[in-house]
Amino acid sequence: MRVNRAGLNGPSERQRLPAGRDRALANELFRGVCRWRNLLDYYLQQFCRSPLSKLPPVVLNILRLGAYQLVFLQRIPDYAAIDQAVLMTRAHKFAGLSGFVNGTLRTIARNKPNLTPPQSRGETVDEIATLYSHPVWLVERWIKRFGAANTRDICVFNNQESALSLRCRPNEREVVMEELAAIGFLPQVDEEISSAVHLVQASGLFETALFNGGKIYPQDASSQLIAPLVCSAQCRCPLDAACGPGGKTLHIIDLIGEGVPVVAADVQPHELRRLHENAVRWGVRNSIYPVLVDLSRHPPFSPRMFDAILLDAPCSGLGMIGRHPESKWNRTEELVALMAKKQRHLLGVVSELLAPGGRLVYSTCSFELDETEENIRWFLAENSAFQRVPVDSIVQGRLLSYVSPDSDLLVLPHLHQRSGYYAALLERRKGC
Ligand SMILES: C[S@@+](CC[C@H](N)C(=O)[O-])C[C@H]1O[C@@H](n2cnc3c(N)ncnc32)[C@H](O)[C@@H]1O
Repeated sequence: MRVNRAGLNGPSERQRLPAGRDRALANELFRGVCRWRNLLDYYLQQFCRSPLSKLPPVVLNILRLGAYQLVFLQRIPDYAAIDQAVLMTRAHKFAGLSGFVNGTLRTIARNKPNLTPPQSRGETVDEIATLYSHPVWLVERWIKRFGAANTRDICVFNNQESALSLRCRPNEREVVMEELAAIGFLPQVDEEISSAVHLVQASGLFETALFNGGKIYPQDASSQLIAPLVCSAQCRCPLDAACGPGGKTLHIIDLIGEGVPVVAADVQPHELRRLHENAVRWGVRNSIYPVLVDLSRHPPFSPRMFDAILLDAPCSGLGMIGRHPESKWNRTEELVALMAKKQRHLLGVVSELLAPGGRLVYSTCSFELDETEENIRWFLAENSAFQRVPVDSIVQGRLLSYVSPDSDLLVLPHLHQRSGYYAALLERRKGC
């Protein structure tokens, strides 16, 4: 496995590896190191005299990679992990530090039986940040809002390897489960979300006829809660205002039928290319009008022209750390504030496009207050033409536990054992 200048390779680099065991191992190493970075640093620091922050970033990441294999993985022999680390150090032109890398990792390997995590119950910010390996600023934020015990639970959830979640078309889940089982997978049904199936082991799934024939769409289960809100009322002229690769666009089409075209807008050409590929695979290409547009500038739509709008807003993605462990290290408090500002602007723009009596769903894969409830409270205070539609008028049964005190949809990892998600349902009053 190669390591780039800034550190470990990102997901796109891993995609270029041949499918199979190499890719699976690269994936495990990448995700494991991202997941346990702070704890790995705690172990490494015990055997390095100078602060780790003084090391070149690439050498520090090589050490983390080696330490992860030594401490967390059983099937890679210690000598192989250490030799690779030394080779990588040389390959990255730090030959002068290869002896140091070798020595540090050998010492860790020798002391493995005596390595113990910090002896704390994880009460303070620093203790939780180290023991559960999350950035200090985020732990601080969550403790203030949820308390230490819930923060630990969020971190524990984020540190578990998540199963791959799939969405099936309405009423096809049983058949899909049977077909998955027939080709050797072990699908698990989602007891609360009727479209969702989970696979702990999904190797080879993307080569199957089930995937290529458009019977399953990889989609986090929490995110499968959003399209039903969009389709909760009249939906004759819907807009998916930030459609990305189209997970929710396709879901909306499945719910309203192919006769109603969905306008799908995004600012990124590559997202619209992915949308096209997904729509072809799903067999609904003719039900989508893709529009390449920066909605924050001059949307090429008439005011009040849509009767249903989804704004699945660009956000910090902090509800998805379990699926994307690398994300926790490149988000900042400033970024959350910046995203919240951008979301308010987009919300203002798309709300102008909604017809009287129409419904707008604002959603984020984040449960941070600034990106969720605070934005909606601000919007409703500024826009008297809009009112909130309580989501408990739509969701039923066990899903009622996802309704927040403000009557929005709020999925919290420590409460629901799912990725964090938020959605508010707003309606433009008739005659406004
Ligand atoms: C959370 S993602 C959408 C994911 C998508 N709904 C799905 O389920 O697959 C947010 C999307 O907003 C798009 N976006 C960000 N700023 C935008 C803007 N100013 N105008 C239009 N789209 C924008 C991003 O390119 C990104 O694809």
